[in-house]
Amino acid sequence: MEPLTARPIETARAAARLAGRIQLQGMNSHLEIDHKGRYDLVTDVDRRSERAIIATLGEAFPDVGILAEEDSPTAPGSNEMWIVDPLDGTTNYASGYPAFCVSIALRVASEIVLAVVYEPVRDELFEAVAGQGARLNGSAIRVSETRELSESLLATGFPYDRCEQPETNLDRFCAMTMRTRGVRRGGSAALDLCYTACGRLDGYWEIRLNPWDVSAGALIVQEAGGQITGLAGDSYDWSGMDNLASNGLLHQKLVESLARLDPPAPCFG
Ligand code: IPD
Ligand code: CA
Ligand code: CA
Repeated sequence: MEPLTARPIETARAAARLAGRIQLQGMNSHLEIDHKGRYDLVTDVDRRSERAIIATLGEAFPDVGILAEEDSPTAPGSNEMWIVDPLDGTTNYASGYPAFCVSIALRVASEIVLAVVYEPVRDELFEAVAGQGARLNGSAIRVSETRELSESLLATGFPYDRCEQPETNLDRFCAMTMRTRGVRRGGSAALDLCYTACGRLDGYWEIRLNPWDVSAGALIVQEAGGQITGLAGDSYDWSGMDNLASNGLLHQKLVESLARLDPPAPCFG
C-alpha cells in the first residue's frame, strides 16, 4: 500500500457516509431482523451497509485485507487490513433508537493508523490519523479536563452473552454508578469512545468486545489526548476485548475504582 496519503482517509470517509445514507433510509422502511445469538441481532441494513463499505474500500485498495463484522475476512494474513463495523449499535437501530454509527479503521502491521466513525443521525464524522490528532466534522477535538470521579460522566456496555457467562459487568456498573455523576449505556461502543474523545464523556469501559467495535474509536481517543488500556491499566492492542478509555487524568482512579467493587456503596470517591 502507498504511504498514508489523503486517499485512505478520503475513501474511509466516503464509505462511512455511503453506509450512513443506507442506514438513514433504512430507518423508514421495514427491517429484516435475524438473530446471531439470543440478544445479538443483525438486520438487512447491517448487511447492505457492509457490502457498500467493502465495495468502496475494495475498489480503491484491492490489495488491502478487510475484517468486517458480518462476513469472513478477505486476505486474513494481510499486513494492511481495514477493520469495519458497518453498523455499531444494531440493537438500538432495530428499535429505531437513534444512537448508532459506522466504524472503519485501517491497521498496518499491529498499529491502527487511521480511523473514521460516522454517526448519521447527527451527521457527525469523527476521524483520526495516527500522530495527527482527532477531528469532529473537521475541527480538532480534545478529551475533557475532569479530574474527580465524583464529577465524571462515564459509559459502559454489557456483552450479548451476559446470560451465558459468569462475568456480566453489572457489578462494576453498580459500583461506578454510586461513585460518579452517572454511567450511561449508550449501546454503541464506537460512539462511547468518540464521545470520550470529544469530552461528552469522561471515560468508558466495556468487556468482551471485538476489534471492529473499538479499533477506530480507540485511535480517536488516543489522538484526542486520552488513554486506552485494559481494565487493569495493562496495555491495549487493536484486538483488545476488555477496554478502559478515559481523558487520561482520571485513568488511574478508574483502574483502582473498577478493581474495588465492595463494599457496594453508596459512597463517592
Ligand atoms: C455492540 C455495541 C454495544 C456493545 C456490544 C457491541 P453491535 O455492537 O457496540 O454498545 O455493548 O458489546 O457488540 O452488535 O451493535 O455492532
Ligand atoms: Ca459493534
Ligand atoms: Ca455491528
